[in-house]
Amino acid sequence: MTSRRTFIKFSAFSAALLSVGKSMGSPRLHTSSEKPIVLSTWEHGLAANEDAWKILSANGKAIDAVEKGVMNTEENLKNQSVGLGGLPDRDGHVTLDACIMDELGNCGSVCCLEHIKHPISVARMVMDKTPHVILVGDGALKFALNHGFTKETFDRTPEADKAWKEWLIKAQYKPIINVENHDTIGMIALDAAGNLSGSCTTSGLAYKMHGRVGDSPIIGAGLFVDNEVGAAAATGTGEEVIRVCGSHTVVEMMRAGHSPEEACRIAVERVSKSPKNVKEMQIGFIAINKHGEFGGYALQNGFNFAVHSNKINNELCDAKHLW
Ligand code: GLY
Repeated sequence: MTSRRTFIKFSAFSAALLSVGKSMGSPRLHTSSEKPIVLSTWEHGLAANEDAWKILSANGKAIDAVEKGVMNTEENLKNQSVGLGGLPDRDGHVTLDACIMDELGNCGSVCCLEHIKHPISVARMVMDKTPHVILVGDGALKFALNHGFTKETFDRTPEADKAWKEWLIKAQYKPIINVENHDTIGMIALDAAGNLSGSCTTSGLAYKMHGRVGDSPIIGAGLFVDNEVGAAAATGTGEEVIRVCGSHTVVEMMRAGHSPEEACRIAVERVSKSPKNVKEMQIGFIAINKHGEFGGYALQNGFNFAVHSNKINNELCDAKHLW
């Protein structure tokens, strides 16, 4: 556990920041201009936030900050749930999923991309340079190589290779992400100009079936941004996030007047009603609203997220949880 960890007391913090007002007939929460601000999932979000903050604190754009921020996580080969350091699928392939979305509703995504260090930047290029939203597999790789990305030649890091070979001995297929297994960096930011953007990138579920895609590259599931309302990102067992269009649900709940934390809780409650057994799974959401208020919520204890603003100097916060 990091020595930088701080438990932010949301009730006290919110009381200091928030005043309740009325807008369009529904109760809304307003903050004293908490921008810029960046949030990202898990402890690896601390280092990612540092890079995002360099851009945000210099009055840069949220879309640039959220790309740059998660690149930090992608290039850390010790991270076994994001980037090329990730654990492979059952066939030994490290397949990467990522997406990005800006304040105008532009978005780009790559699924099942192999051998590329920064899938988030390929997703950004899909957004910026094509009329499409999603490219997958070989097509995504071909697009990346045609646009100047380098094909990394190694198949797996030595650590991931060892873990995979140990897994192969029993080859038990348990597609769950429990509370100890961190996964996915989702990052959402509000810049000084008041614009929201988000990014999400992962190597996905360890030892998944080849070709399996989770929530992280799916706009509306792993990530959603509406510049009039807020932004949200998800982490955890992707199938369950997809089933409830998780991040979109969080944003729609904020549109209905709920605080970011309440909106995340409502999405988590929907997940808890899944027809699948979600008892051993972890799902967490983070959210920022247009005013810079933020929150997170998870199915189980153990989910945390990193926050950086002018008032909060990159702190790790424990999310409230349903169970
Ligand atoms: N949340 C990452 C995944 O399920 O792949």
